[in-house]
Amino acid sequence: MSKIIAIVTGASSGLGREFARQIDIMTGLDEIWLIARRRERLVELAAELKTDTRILALDLLQESSFAIIESELKQQKPVVSILINNAGKGKAGRFASIKREYNSELLRLNVLAIMQLTNIVLPYCAAGSRILQISSVAAFMPQPGFSVYAASKAFVLSFARALNEELRREKITVTAVCPNPMETEFFNNGSGKSKLNWIKSLGIEQPEKVVRVALARSARGKDVSVSCIAGKLLRLVGKFLPHRISMRVISKMGY
Ligand SMILES: NC(=O)c1ccc[n+]([C@@H]2O[C@H](COP(=O)([O-])OP(=O)(O)OC[C@H]3O[C@@H](n4cnc5c(N)ncnc54)[C@H](OP(=O)(O)O)[C@@H]3O)[C@@H](O)[C@H]2O)c1
Repeated sequence: MSKIIAIVTGASSGLGREFARQIDIMTGLDEIWLIARRRERLVELAAELKTDTRILALDLLQESSFAIIESELKQQKPVVSILINNAGKGKAGRFASIKREYNSELLRLNVLAIMQLTNIVLPYCAAGSRILQISSVAAFMPQPGFSVYAASKAFVLSFARALNEELRREKITVTAVCPNPMETEFFNNGSGKSKLNWIKSLGIEQPEKVVRVALARSARGKDVSVSCIAGKLLRLVGKFLPHRISMRVISKMGY
């Protein structure tokens, strides 16, 4: 009998760790595969989970990491019931002030890694499997002062929704998860809280709720999960207000 597993990337902190914790209390899973670079953090997390885990301390900027995941899947032949494509990075600031190397790593992690892992995992999904692609409210409109990050998350949103439609017949759900800012290590890794203008600071979300809502929305087959009122408003603004105007407002608020 194939094992039924969940895979969580970026499980060593923030949202990914919270996904692993909430998935752990679901029934019917044989194993959770935890992926991130910091092995010690994954070991700590594994110790607190009741479900068996497989620790894959991998850097998703390295092409070889995908070969390792693919070969693990080939060997184990599991059914992947849940894939959480969560690892990501971002830095606020004017485009010209951010190093080219940083932005290319950002795109490789936030865009390419998600696309590649989805590709590798999809053959192991079955009817009822769920893929959650972590996007952001930044996906709803172009963001001066956060341009490359917002564009990367717009890719994730668009990709997730289109894939959800493609996989409807196979009964595989793909959900784009779009959190507002959360106080995770993300803030220490380049997108400092000081970079948040006062409007964004008002809508700070807790990872627990983001994850709870996202898992519930994906269980209901929804293609997008937005878990707070500020995020829902931003989505409406992104749909109905010309981006020319919203971008001018964002610029005026400062970044
Ligand atoms: N925090 C926010 O305000 C916010 C808002 C909306 C969306 N998001 C999105 O939510 C997701 C999770 O972010 P977070 O807030 O939880 O931030 P976080 O605490 O910084 O977590 C990022 C995770 O990604 C992993 N990671 C980073 N680079 C990696 C690499 N090269 N290879 C493998 N794993 C890597 C990190 O683990 P290691 O360092 O151990 O590798 C860490 O587990 C991201 O996609 C982010 O864009 C965040």
